[in-house]
Amino acid sequence: MGEMFDITSARDAEFHMHTYARKQVMFVSGLGTRLYDDEGREYLDLVSGIGSVNLGHAHPAVAEAVARQMSRLVHVSNLYHVEHRTELAEELSALLGGGFKAFFCNSGAEACEGSIKLARRWGKANKGPEAVRIVTAERSFHGRTMAALAATGQPSKQEAFEPLPPGFVHVPFNDIDALDAVLDDTVCAVMLEVVQGEGGVYPADPAYLEAVRTLCDERAVLLVLDEVQSGFWRTGHAFAHQAYGIEPDVVALAKSLANGLPAGAVVARAEVADAFAPGDHGSTFGGTPLICAAARATIAALQAERLGENAIAVGAHLRAGLESLVACSDDVVEVRGTGLMLAAQLREPVAARVVDAGLAHGFVLNNIGAHTLRFLPPLACTATEADALCDILPTILAEVAE
Ligand SMILES: Cc1ncc(COP(=O)(O)O)c(C=O)c1O
Repeated sequence: MGEMFDITSARDAEFHMHTYARKQVMFVSGLGTRLYDDEGREYLDLVSGIGSVNLGHAHPAVAEAVARQMSRLVHVSNLYHVEHRTELAEELSALLGGGFKAFFCNSGAEACEGSIKLARRWGKANKGPEAVRIVTAERSFHGRTMAALAATGQPSKQEAFEPLPPGFVHVPFNDIDALDAVLDDTVCAVMLEVVQGEGGVYPADPAYLEAVRTLCDERAVLLVLDEVQSGFWRTGHAFAHQAYGIEPDVVALAKSLANGLPAGAVVARAEVADAFAPGDHGSTFGGTPLICAAARATIAALQAERLGENAIAVGAHLRAGLESLVACSDDVVEVRGTGLMLAAQLREPVAARVVDAGLAHGFVLNNIGAHTLRFLPPLACTATEADALCDILPTILAEVAE
């Protein structure tokens, strides 16, 4: 660790609220799948800023778009028309198959909050004043703001902040009967992650998601998909639900929308989106020309570089490599996920120590809880890089076991 790390880490506790237990490293630059610390040491990044830099670090197309827009116009607010915002909304609609309208915000939690508000507004207008409840899944994660936290299906993250906004019902994920039992006239929306990310990388079963769509149609309930983590070709498709052949009514987006710049969006089918009227919802910073320029450059580059195809191919390769660890040792007991959104379940509760040991070997890893390693590399990750990870993991696991 360099001097810059020493000075910065020593002052962390004095000047920051203690909401994160930071790792013993300080990154100062990045390029593609690589990160560099304050001493110039190179690391292979398997986290992508928690799935937010799908295009890789310091991508020249995004850097250029931001630099150009930065010296032209950064922000005037949503009171005015600006460049890039409408173009981005049209591009997102096209990626979803057309007929969608966007509201831009700044983060995943805000995208979920906006989706919740839209669903309530739609429910009251279309079903009646009682239709305000939102059903979400146990183990889900929708963000840290109060309504997004209430939607989140993880009591450990909620209890300290009660009372939470009412009107949320949690049911077991991938259990259609449990959903069927709660979808009455007081429900306006079902909100699900297509692949539960923070909960441990659990994809929805295809038959489940299809049945959810059918049930929502039958009961006149909106299907809101939280693709904050699974979107932007992370699983191979522009959005993870596209592998399931179903269409959502509302999609919450953020993370990789602008390749690491703060950006979020609520994107809804036009008839649903039209439930919002002027004054219903807003954001000072959402949809600035700067962020929208970055998002457009991100989406264009992800498509031009065919990184969805790479996510499928290298994701399958990495998955096979991780599964071979299950076969040849009993340290790894299960591999889950799809595309380049994968997890390895460990037998022992050593995942955090594996992450720390990974840094010493030049690998930026991530754990969810004590037993789960999650892999979210930039989508340009190569088969060789996936092999490097699978080659080092047994060494790291052995070190940690000692
Ligand atoms: C599925 C999902 N929804 C919402 C969020 C919240 O996003 P943010 O941290 O940008 O508020 C996250 C963050 O991890 C997420 O994975």
